[in-house]
Amino acid sequence: MLDWTPEELRRHGYAAVDELVEFWAAMRESPVRRVAPVEELEERFGAPPPELGRPFDEVLLETSRVLLPSTMRVNHPRFFGFVPGPSNPSGAVAELLASGFNVFAGTWMAGGAATVVERGLIRWLADQIGMPAGAGGVMVSGGSLANLTALIVAREMHRNGKHPDAAVYFSDQTHSASERALRVLGFEARQLRRLPTVGDGAVDIEALRAMLAKDDAPFCVVANAGTTSTGAVDSLPELAELCRERGIWLHADAAYGGGAVLCERGKSALRGLERCDSLALDPHKWLFQPFDLGCVLVREEKLLTDVFRIIPAYMNDVYRLNAEINFCDRGLELTRPFRALKLWMSLQHFGVAAFRKAVERGFELAEIAEARLRENTSWEIVTPAQLGIVTFRHKGDDALQKRLVDAMLADGYAMLTSTHFRGRAALRLCPINPRTADEEIRETITRLEKFAATA
Ligand SMILES: Cc1ncc(COP(=O)(O)O)c(C=O)c1O
Repeated sequence: MLDWTPEELRRHGYAAVDELVEFWAAMRESPVRRVAPVEELEERFGAPPPELGRPFDEVLLETSRVLLPSTMRVNHPRFFGFVPGPSNPSGAVAELLASGFNVFAGTWMAGGAATVVERGLIRWLADQIGMPAGAGGVMVSGGSLANLTALIVAREMHRNGKHPDAAVYFSDQTHSASERALRVLGFEARQLRRLPTVGDGAVDIEALRAMLAKDDAPFCVVANAGTTSTGAVDSLPELAELCRERGIWLHADAAYGGGAVLCERGKSALRGLERCDSLALDPHKWLFQPFDLGCVLVREEKLLTDVFRIIPAYMNDVYRLNAEINFCDRGLELTRPFRALKLWMSLQHFGVAAFRKAVERGFELAEIAEARLRENTSWEIVTPAQLGIVTFRHKGDDALQKRLVDAMLADGYAMLTSTHFRGRAALRLCPINPRTADEEIRETITRLEKFAATA
């Protein structure tokens, strides 16, 4: 029951891989998004499942030719919106294997090599950042869970974490994932100190100092190591110093920007990240992994187990065998997939040097975009290329910027999104897909110029 013969597995598996080959091969020539009305999709895919099944060939083709293409291609070389998921094919094959073997990566007993792979990669990431030897972490689904996990640790471990007036400081550019995490942790609006930013979007440290002077129970600073809107990095060395002096927990949201530590420019932009007490970093963003893969790192590995470990009777055997590396002790998940496999396989296959070059390419592409925008005085650079993001405006009002996003969506050639910075709408390109050609960046801007003439 619910089984296939080896021949069926081979035939259907190969057929699925063939579909994947088509998808990747045709990507560049395909629109970034194919739009289908919600009613049509509802009718086709939202209905309850059938009582009796149907041939897999039919299900597969419907999935790969209709269902999956009715989603946005965030790994498309011309997807520049939000934070792209450039992904890589070897990571996708790793996912097939990890779920095919159905690895349980929650405990050493069940996960074995999977736990060693995960621990090794966490150590490697911590080393890339320059964290001290006692640092450790856990892999989770993404930035939202990574920030939540780190903030749980902070709240449990910091002397002011549970103070009724515990105050948390972050800038008006901080991703909503942290605010949501704080909300579910029970922090009230009156405890959240939203700070203004200076320059291209880094937190105003003087405003932070002024706030700190007024608070009795300063608890945590959430620093940005690459804001989602403009790629800004807060002054981490200054924040680290201030937090050390005042005994405040320093958490950094490096979900987007953290991958940049692989290259020299990124390392230099993120200087000070190694001094944080905790941080979130998403390999499913700028380390080119398929969804999902986020990572929490903490300066003192032991704090994770102090916070999360509970040993129930039915798990006694797990801890008799090995009490050291049970990843279920480091976060909220017991049953957890072997998420780390895709990062391991793709690093083994392509090598770190290829990843380093791919990250560097993101810096370069954003600069190419900025240079092209500067060729036409109809554009205003809102924030220059920083950490792979450039923001800009066309001459005209806020509504025009949004019409340009809509026009590009309708066109389908590329995808970009808008944001709001210092009270004004801005267009935003985040070209971190290493497969993007220089000309595709320039053509995207040329098309925007054409749309502006009629929008
Ligand atoms: C800076 C930052 N933090 C957190 C997140 C949330 O991460 P995820 O969507 O992986 O949960 C994002 C997502 O884009 C982000 O850019």
